[in-house]
Amino acid sequence: MIDFKREIAEVLATAVEGLTAEEIREIIEIPGDAKMGDYAFPCFRLAKTMRKAPQMIAASVAEAISQNPMFSRVEQVNAYVNMFMNRGEFIGHTVAAVAEEKDDFGRSDLGKGKLAIVEFSSPNIAKPFHIGHIRSTVIGNSIYKIYDFLGYETVRINHLGDYGTQFGKMIVAYRRWGNKEDVVKEPIKTLLSYYVKFHEEAENDPTLEKEARATFARLENGEPEEKELWQWFRDESLKEFMRVYDMLGIEFDSYAGESFYSDKMQRVLDELKEKNLLQVSEGAQIVDLEEYKLPPALITKSDGSSLYITRDIAAAIYRKEHYNFDKNIYVVASQQNLHFQQWFKIVELLGYDWAKDCVHVPFGLVSLEDGTMSTRHGRVVFLEDVLKGAVEKTRQIIHEKSIAKGRLSADEMEETAKMVGIGAVMFNELSNAKIKDYTFKWDKVLNFEGETGPYVQYTHARAATVLRSAEDTLAKALADPGAINTDHIASDSAYELAKLIYRFPQVVEDAGEKYEPSVITRHVVDVAQGFNKFYHDEHILVDDEEEKKAKLLLTYAAKQTIKNGLALLGISAPERM
Ligand code: ARG
Repeated sequence: MIDFKREIAEVLATAVEGLTAEEIREIIEIPGDAKMGDYAFPCFRLAKTMRKAPQMIAASVAEAISQNPMFSRVEQVNAYVNMFMNRGEFIGHTVAAVAEEKDDFGRSDLGKGKLAIVEFSSPNIAKPFHIGHIRSTVIGNSIYKIYDFLGYETVRINHLGDYGTQFGKMIVAYRRWGNKEDVVKEPIKTLLSYYVKFHEEAENDPTLEKEARATFARLENGEPEEKELWQWFRDESLKEFMRVYDMLGIEFDSYAGESFYSDKMQRVLDELKEKNLLQVSEGAQIVDLEEYKLPPALITKSDGSSLYITRDIAAAIYRKEHYNFDKNIYVVASQQNLHFQQWFKIVELLGYDWAKDCVHVPFGLVSLEDGTMSTRHGRVVFLEDVLKGAVEKTRQIIHEKSIAKGRLSADEMEETAKMVGIGAVMFNELSNAKIKDYTFKWDKVLNFEGETGPYVQYTHARAATVLRSAEDTLAKALADPGAINTDHIASDSAYELAKLIYRFPQVVEDAGEKYEPSVITRHVVDVAQGFNKFYHDEHILVDDEEEKKAKLLLTYAAKQTIKNGLALLGISAPERM
């Protein structure tokens, strides 16, 4: 794609003194109101070098560049030079670029030769995979897709919570009260009930805690019986998680969870000791971080067992040595901000310069309309149930909409209900700036008219339907996209749509830089609205073959942009709805 901002900067550079084209490019703005031009150049900074009032500079610059064929009009308004592009060239170039790049439209090679690890989801074994986990799972998946699209080599890691003293408790509980069939039937609910029972019984029977500690020690020492049970709990839990990942269309490259690092902990302790970072406090070992205004980090407990934070340090060192990452991204709730600040600092104190390449991407809480979600009060809402509910509700909506119009067969309807129902939940998740707490509301998620997944998917399907009804003409337009007559797609609504399409690659870059998929979500909504306005204002399937070609090509570009945007969010784009 042509970088029009750069081209404009080069033209402006010939008319001003004291700023390079690169500097000018940084200053050029895109006005919020299209009446102020497609691009605007503020002249305040030139007042010093050109020793004139900014308004006067703007006037002379406007005059000097007004004849350039790139522009249809150039105006001076106060200290600004407002530039209106020659629409034909801009639109023609944009639709031709999409026609050529197709599924790769928006892709870049920014990250070429670099590797990014994205760690996300990371639920705890034998604990519910609940609605609270949806955020890390869906946001992390999108960040992975964005980095992949930006040309990075990527590794997706699910850092399962599959280790710790709770497994001692679970094994004890299973041995006392457990039943194999129940676990196989409903692994997580059953294992969780053992865990709860353990705590109830332990209140009256203090030997239980002791037994659990001893059992965990046996597990840490690799005793076969304990290990086998633990492995079984892990496998059964993972089966349940996999069902959800399948529904969401999410995969991982590695499931190396906390247990994977159990034999890599001694090295961390040795290095900490060597750097004189360890202190003993009440029998436990800590790293004092007062100098950095952080609370002390607990590295080993008084009984010698290692901790969550120590495993994170071991994992980061392993990842650097094994993958040699350029970026190591953790998509984890903001409740763990302090945890990440602490251990990033410790890695830095250990002398690892790659500490700066570790990034914590935090996000806020999700709650449900009927009150906050809380595991402790047993008000757990399983993610799997939410997804199934979404498909079920969507099935009803689509049924009413499509049966009436006789559009979809029963099979297509089922397939669409899945795409739209699951897509709606994911889209909703990715619509809010990730750091904000938000409330999950069914009405909002499944509204076909609002700024929702179904709305965007429906717009995509609508564009697909238009294209299907004129396949031959579209094929001709795609065969030689540079040859269309752009006069037919130079109206205001066509041009506004083309501008949104043109901006897509930049939006992807911004989203990656900010680790913020909602930037893409919002843009996809804008493109959908832009297309719907064009569709409403203009007649696309006209008799004139040249006009139809041009309009179909713009429709094609809009559809492709929506599709590529949705793909980066992990959401499919149905051809029919
Ligand atoms: N298992 C943890 C939880 O559910 C999240 C793990 C986050 N990742 C990490 N490297 N600490 O809360």
